[in-house]
Amino acid sequence: MLKGKSIILGITGGIAAYKGAALCSKLVQAGAKVNVIMTESAAKFITPLTLQTLSRNPVHIDTFDERDPGVVSHIDLADHADLIVIAPATANAMAKLAGGHADDMLSTTLLAATCPILIAPAMNVHMYEHPAVVHNMELLASRGAMFVEPGTGQLACGYVAKGRLAEPEDIMAAIEAWFVRGGMLAGKRVLVTAGGTMERLDPVRYLTNDSSGKMGFAIAEAAQLMGADVTLVAGRTSVAPPAGVRLIRVESAQQMLDAVMDVFEESDIVVKSAAVADYRAVDISDQKLKKSGERLVLELERTTDILETLGKRKSRQFLVGFAAETEQVEHYAMDKLQRKNCDLIVANDVSREGAGFNGDTNIVQVFGAEGLIVSLPILSKREVANCLLELIAGRLASVEGTAHDS
Ligand code: PMT
Repeated sequence: MLKGKSIILGITGGIAAYKGAALCSKLVQAGAKVNVIMTESAAKFITPLTLQTLSRNPVHIDTFDERDPGVVSHIDLADHADLIVIAPATANAMAKLAGGHADDMLSTTLLAATCPILIAPAMNVHMYEHPAVVHNMELLASRGAMFVEPGTGQLACGYVAKGRLAEPEDIMAAIEAWFVRGGMLAGKRVLVTAGGTMERLDPVRYLTNDSSGKMGFAIAEAAQLMGADVTLVAGRTSVAPPAGVRLIRVESAQQMLDAVMDVFEESDIVVKSAAVADYRAVDISDQKLKKSGERLVLELERTTDILETLGKRKSRQFLVGFAAETEQVEHYAMDKLQRKNCDLIVANDVSREGAGFNGDTNIVQVFGAEGLIVSLPILSKREVANCLLELIAGRLASVEGTAHDS
């Protein structure tokens, strides 16, 4: 699986740097081409010669130590990497990456890289829990960095607590899992909708909902990391969309319908996580509505149900809807699945703590024609996205397998 993959192993200055050597050895044995970049502090814990011997490649420490006049080393390394793994990652290394600093070979290469980054932190427990470190890790995660959590045990500083670098076997498992997922949706065109729609009442007022776009953005980003070509149709959102996807911004349910219909035919998978208005104003005032009287009655009319429209049109597309419910989740989810002709429905009970709108986590149950397929515990929206897309990829593969066989 790792054969021929180009991996940069960044080793930063903590006592766990010695485990970087074991990881390097495992990566090479698995067939990866490993280029090691050490910080100067890391070189105080373990010799570059050890890593050079294990990786069978020169070790990079100094940005200005240019050995090949034909290339600029940090750009060349960054351009050719399939994955960068930082193990161990100190608080300082993560702070530099979060802040965009480029003052040594590793930080400079990280800024030049466009490939995914896997970070395995290791430090004292109080450092690990410091708000600045927590903030930096959240920021890096929001930009797509993946993490292998530290373990709990005896720390070099004497504490028995969380902060030990994950074992090299666990970091290897995370790397292999990423490469497996990386190709799962290769060649697939995925259409994702995210955020809430806005239904104008006048030039300054509108009807909307609490959707932040986080769930849909996580799905779009995860699909892209699995190799898909992603189109993201996004309404009103409160977070930045993922980079590298084709983004179409819309406001109203009608605009979302139009944008979705434009790309539906060419899509293989459609995931409708957007919270779409069911009603819109019959008349949209050109001018700001003036106060008059104690009550104002707005006349609303039904919007087109986009998912239902797609369900009627679909030919080969794998169609996934969401269901935001507060009661009788299974009953309503199954009703939507059948009525809207979906292959899967992802139901979230938005009345539960940690589920639904706005937060970083969700609690979902996925239903298919056969009923409940999986009930996931509370997970980050990124993890929900990964689980959902793995399920979709598996189902699609078995459908395509059946089609090829017949
Ligand atoms: O964006 P976040 O803050 O991360 O929140 C995520 C979420 C709660 C918005 C998401 O997890 C979710 O549940 N999305 C669906 C919300 C919704 O509109 O549910 P619904 O049960 O009302 O609609 C069912 C399905 O029909 C949805 O796939 C919806 O996109 C679709 N629909 C609804 C109405 C309409 N006019 N057209 C549609 O396509």
